[in-house]
Amino acid sequence: MAHVIAISNQKGGVGKTTTAVSLASELAIAGRRVLLVDFDPQGNASSGLGVEPNSEGQDVYDMFFGEVTLQEALNVSPMISSLYVAPSSKDLVSIELELGKTPGRELILKSQIKLLRDRFDYILIDCPPSSGLLTLNALGAAEHILIPLQAEYYALEGLSALMQTIEFVKQTFNPNLNILGVFLTMYDSRTKLSQQVEDEIKTHFNELAFKTRIPRNVRLSEAPSHSLPICLYAPDSIGAQAYHDLAVELDQRLYANSNSNLVANG
Ligand SMILES: Nc1ncnc2c1ncn2[C@@H]1O[C@H](COP(=O)(O)OP(=O)(O)OP(=O)(O)O)[C@@H](O)[C@H]1O
Ligand SMILES: [Mg+2]
Repeated sequence: MAHVIAISNQKGGVGKTTTAVSLASELAIAGRRVLLVDFDPQGNASSGLGVEPNSEGQDVYDMFFGEVTLQEALNVSPMISSLYVAPSSKDLVSIELELGKTPGRELILKSQIKLLRDRFDYILIDCPPSSGLLTLNALGAAEHILIPLQAEYYALEGLSALMQTIEFVKQTFNPNLNILGVFLTMYDSRTKLSQQVEDEIKTHFNELAFKTRIPRNVRLSEAPSHSLPICLYAPDSIGAQAYHDLAVELDQRLYANSNSNLVANG
């Protein structure tokens, strides 16, 4: 049964998509069966892995209208055979208006994921930077939420909005949702600010704070333009190493009572 994890933070540009693509690839290369659901109309997770919609041109937008199942909309990533992607569509921008007040509209993804949870070990959902219907669907379908925080002065800004959304979801349609953890992205160990933010996060989140922090690394920002995940584009970079470490830490958190397949350092 797949662990379903929404990668979410309502603040924009904090590294959600970079994390979704990098983690999904690391976990898949280590032998896990992984599905990445691209829930951002920008479609950066799909394009970052070079994944196109299936031959019928179907994607998660069509899933919302029952024209295709999530399973039918999947496409395998070209470089990693155990990594599947449910591609996004620009049309998702208007999903909120189009679905109006349709009953159960927050639980469409959940019902689709239920049908294929046995096929995967991990289902990761890359959320858009908003608290709209797409994020509600992601949080409705997920057991866990993984929160990237950018190591900058306003790191915690917007987090209270996310916490309110999580509470709302728990109280209304997904009582099982829990925070898997928070971690820092774009960390720069040379700056005092990064260290201050790290201390603040540790105090605020205690054991929910991951030990791994993702450094600022230009290779991570270059990789998407080559349609490659960091572990294939620049496997020796500090960015690739950090996402490998994050994958190991995450896998160990979720498979605490069994030996993680993922080997540290490499
Ligand atoms: N650790 C990093 N080092 C350097 N650049 C990074 C790092 N992480 C992300 N970036 C770059 O920062 C930008 C924002 O990252 P990303 O798209 O992953 O954020 P996001 O939270 O998904 O954004 P959005 O809210 O718009 O969906 C991108 O150009 C990405 O390549
Ligand atoms: Mg994104």
